[in-house]
Amino acid sequence: MTAGRRHRTAALAAAAVALVTVGCGGDPPSALNPQGPQAERIADVWWLMFAMATAVYVVVAGLIIAAAMRGRRAPEGEARPSRITDSSFIWVGGVIAPALILGVLAVVTVDSTNDLRRAEPGALRIEVTGYRWWWDVRYPDHGVVTANEIHIPAGRPVEMGLRSADVIHSFWVPELAGKVDQVPGQRNVIRLQADKPGTYRGFCAEFCGLQHAKMQYLVIADSPADFTRWITRRQRPPGGPASEEAALGQVVFNRSTCGACHSVRGTAATGTSAPDLSDFGSRTTIGAVSMENNRVNLAEWIRNPHESKPGNLMPPTYLPPEELDALVAYLESLE
Ligand code: CUA
Repeated sequence: MTAGRRHRTAALAAAAVALVTVGCGGDPPSALNPQGPQAERIADVWWLMFAMATAVYVVVAGLIIAAAMRGRRAPEGEARPSRITDSSFIWVGGVIAPALILGVLAVVTVDSTNDLRRAEPGALRIEVTGYRWWWDVRYPDHGVVTANEIHIPAGRPVEMGLRSADVIHSFWVPELAGKVDQVPGQRNVIRLQADKPGTYRGFCAEFCGLQHAKMQYLVIADSPADFTRWITRRQRPPGGPASEEAALGQVVFNRSTCGACHSVRGTAATGTSAPDLSDFGSRTTIGAVSMENNRVNLAEWIRNPHESKPGNLMPPTYLPPEELDALVAYLESLE
């Protein structure tokens, strides 16, 4: 085997392994590992398409092999005519079979799309707006605002209104639902449900600029009791800063005009052009799932958000170390 062929064979083997791994629901999340009724419906359509495509491949490859074998077995100088005429081959293989296959797929996809659009009674309403490059999340029936981490109750249908504040984004949680675009000036709706508690990773699925790849979010499905606790906590006015350091951090926060872009409920910070920070300390990630939410990462992020996420709209903040530490303490105390 030449080096080039070995290389190609190795690449094909790696691609096959990757396909199988993704198909088995490893990391990254796969639409073939459905965790709710909508995602299951979509996965069913995928498997049907895969089965039909495989059948077509096997039949065509079989005919090619049969034709090759037939030519070889014929005695020298003698050609055996086929029993199938050219016109019947074209009618069956080129018209009737494709029409049947595409007809079945059309009925199944239209029927599935129709089901995915059907409103469920008792659904939880959430409004999600895409910004470059993060997600604003609102619970209109509860008066709760958060960002980038969407809590939902497991086992209950959710109806999400999807909007965009700037360019076209696309909302996609592969394990829970299909993709729906977020188009400026328009409200689209996606319906989803998580069958059991868990954390499901979501992506922006429409190229929207420099940090498109770091425009992610988490859908966190809680047990119904945990969800009620989570949302009730966020409806209460927040207490004062928990420590002296956090109190100094709040002063730094207000003085640094963070509140011109960010909000913290119950305070003077009411900006709406950047993520709401009211429950920031309870979130697991920073920068739309760019990195883990801890003190070191947060300090780095505030000092220079462009190091890890170039092009985002947050300006660098230059603070003396003790003030930066206090600001971090304040933000991590918010929940
Ligand atoms: Cu938002 Cu890609």
